[in-house]
Amino acid sequence: MKLLITGGLGYIGSHVVLQAQRAGHEVVVVDDLSTGLTSRVDCQVVDVDLASEKALDVLHNLMNEHHFEAVIHLAARKQVGQSVEQPERYFKDNIGGLANLLLAMKEAGIKKLVFSSSAATYGIPEVELVPEDYPGIPINPYGQTKLIGEWMVSNASIWGLKGLNLRYFNVAGCEIPALADTAELNLIPIAIAAIKRGQSPKVFGVDYPTIDGSCVRDYVHVGDLANAHLLAVAYLEQSRQEHATFNVGTGIGASVLEVLAEIRVASGLDFELDMHPRRPGDPPKLIADTSRIENILSFKARHDLKEIVKSAWDASS
Ligand code: WQD
Repeated sequence: MKLLITGGLGYIGSHVVLQAQRAGHEVVVVDDLSTGLTSRVDCQVVDVDLASEKALDVLHNLMNEHHFEAVIHLAARKQVGQSVEQPERYFKDNIGGLANLLLAMKEAGIKKLVFSSSAATYGIPEVELVPEDYPGIPINPYGQTKLIGEWMVSNASIWGLKGLNLRYFNVAGCEIPALADTAELNLIPIAIAAIKRGQSPKVFGVDYPTIDGSCVRDYVHVGDLANAHLLAVAYLEQSRQEHATFNVGTGIGASVLEVLAEIRVASGLDFELDMHPRRPGDPPKLIADTSRIENILSFKARHDLKEIVKSAWDASS
């Protein structure tokens, strides 16, 4: 199948590109190179910001040149804190980019889309495992842009789009060191970078109502997440589509202290912890109910936390 992958030069996108190529798909990437690296992929790359004025023309020409059967749309801004400070930028880039993509797909008659969404759409859920139908309310502009994106995808069914939203939980690890997460924006890369600098990793809060007082998250290996995209594309090929939204997680929670303990094991280093008060806006616990993606897409995460942390540590060495 010929696939257009937006944001394919990013940490997650490049894993999707790699797996798509390994599965025999032909891939073209669209990316604005703002955070992506061309060294991460081996395919045609079109440098364009999807939210820019020229995006529609560029997409129009690209979609005429290639006959894409499906699009996997990952290109987006994804920093929660930055989205609070610059909400307009997040709405312009994430919503504007998706709007242009949908307009171009409609014109070109491309009717299959996998949309990169987020567990940030749930806000602060008050359940042990969050199912897709949980009536969550995002608590930051980033999560809002993802929920609005899901609505845009669903509204496009009016012209025949078959869209599928994948709600990522906490993505980490890497398949090969060249594709590692080089940004220090999430717990595992932040903690590893701190340890490498000889500093103590920070823990934001140990007074939550959780197993050890620190926040619990569902860490999913980026290789497993990439595989979910290919299962999603295959699902869109089927004539009958029961669901449009799927959690991508493991269904297993790990606390911040448990993650840091795994980093001790992977690194062989016995570092101190730097205890801080709670970080505002952190839900105590966010774990996916994975029954839908397991039952419908036959998805099952193959990597556990140990492998996630080890791959991240090894790639940083
Ligand atoms: C995890 C836990 C922190 C850094 C974010 C987005 C979410 C999704 C994934 C994509 C929290 C704690 C962190 C540190 C710490 N993104 N922490 N010390 O906030 O769960 O999720 O990324 O869609 O939308 O919100 O991820 O990695 O920032 O934090 O103690 O130095 O680690 O407080 O409890 P988060 P995170």
